[in-house]
Amino acid sequence: MPIAKKIKHYMESASWIRGMFEEGIRLKHQYGEDNVFDFSLGNPVLEPPLAFHAALRELLEHPQPGMHRYMPNVGYPETRGAVAAQLTKETGIPFTAEHIVMCVGAAAGINVVLKTLLDPGDEVLFFAPYFVEYHFYVDYHGGVANVVPTDANFDLDLEALEAALSRRSKVVLINSPNNPTGVIYPATTLKQIGELLHRKERQFNTQLYLLSDEPYKKLIYGGLTYPEIYPHHPNTMTVTSHAKDLALPGERIGYIAVNPECADLKDLISGMSFTTRTLGFVNAPALMQRVIVKLQGVTIEMSQYERKRNFFCDNLATMGYQLVKPQGAFYIFPKTPIADDVAVVKVLQAKNILTVPGRGFGTPGHFRIAYCVEDRTIERSMDGFRAVAKEFGLS
Ligand SMILES: Cc1ncc(COP(=O)(O)O)c(C=O)c1O
Repeated sequence: MPIAKKIKHYMESASWIRGMFEEGIRLKHQYGEDNVFDFSLGNPVLEPPLAFHAALRELLEHPQPGMHRYMPNVGYPETRGAVAAQLTKETGIPFTAEHIVMCVGAAAGINVVLKTLLDPGDEVLFFAPYFVEYHFYVDYHGGVANVVPTDANFDLDLEALEAALSRRSKVVLINSPNNPTGVIYPATTLKQIGELLHRKERQFNTQLYLLSDEPYKKLIYGGLTYPEIYPHHPNTMTVTSHAKDLALPGERIGYIAVNPECADLKDLISGMSFTTRTLGFVNAPALMQRVIVKLQGVTIEMSQYERKRNFFCDNLATMGYQLVKPQGAFYIFPKTPIADDVAVVKVLQAKNILTVPGRGFGTPGHFRIAYCVEDRTIERSMDGFRAVAKEFGLS
């Protein structure tokens, strides 16, 4: 067999989302695009803001000498400076270019951080439901994943975290707004997690790093202000990207921001520079780094996602589905009417509605809906959701 057994096993265990996406392509072929309701993949339907095209055009019309050459592995100083200035504006924390490492999207950022921090056997704790890829990233860098539950509202279960932390723990990985629940962790939870990590660092005489995965940071609703993690723990890093806030997932541009209060900051940044290079990314895409310099502070029109969320949640709730209304991102994670989430997903699939079973995110008994699709897809899917609700006796 050409593929390593481990990778083959990983591919099988993570096939839920891709499997549904491919099923969607098959069904669309059979029934026509308009008759298939594909909520399987978080691939935003919105186009980037006009300012993106203007910045790109400006660069192409006025190319700068050397703009396609190699650069420092952490990225262009002016890009890192622009990101730092925007972050300072948003957080009130004095970031400079020295705290920023440009990366090939948030996914690469997580890999760079884990590669830099983990010795073999070091533990990375993260919460279920989780972004499926976390398991693979941790394993690729010699770490051991330790999954901690969330509470009934998908907020972090800090008692469970306390019980799970040990001398072997190195990184606690959180994701807010969360994929797949859309939950935003409140400042009180973040404060408590900071206090807990501080206590545990003293108890074990170790350093614990908080890694916050924030690609949906700007996709928040109802006038909420994003609760920042930095003030609550010095050894904090965030990773994010412009995949969602500028609708540029294919362009693979993001950054890592290290808390200015973080211990051994210079070493950490040097480590990340090295791992960016040697993981084979080398540096984040040059053209996109130049484009996003001009787009700090610009985001797509969020009201469109908020409208889709409200329509979907209100209708599902009326039909009897139980759900925690998401505060951000573009996912809903309702309870399945029976415990067997795969069975429910199959019943939905028979109505040409494609969702992902909760067990794909470590939380069976739920299903994920990605609503970053056209309004008409959502509207036309309602009959199918209603029929399935009736079939399972919801009201
Ligand atoms: C929770 C979470 N983390 C990381 C990523 C990866 O983001 P990017 O496309 O910026 O690499 C995603 C993408 O969907 C995500 O949902």
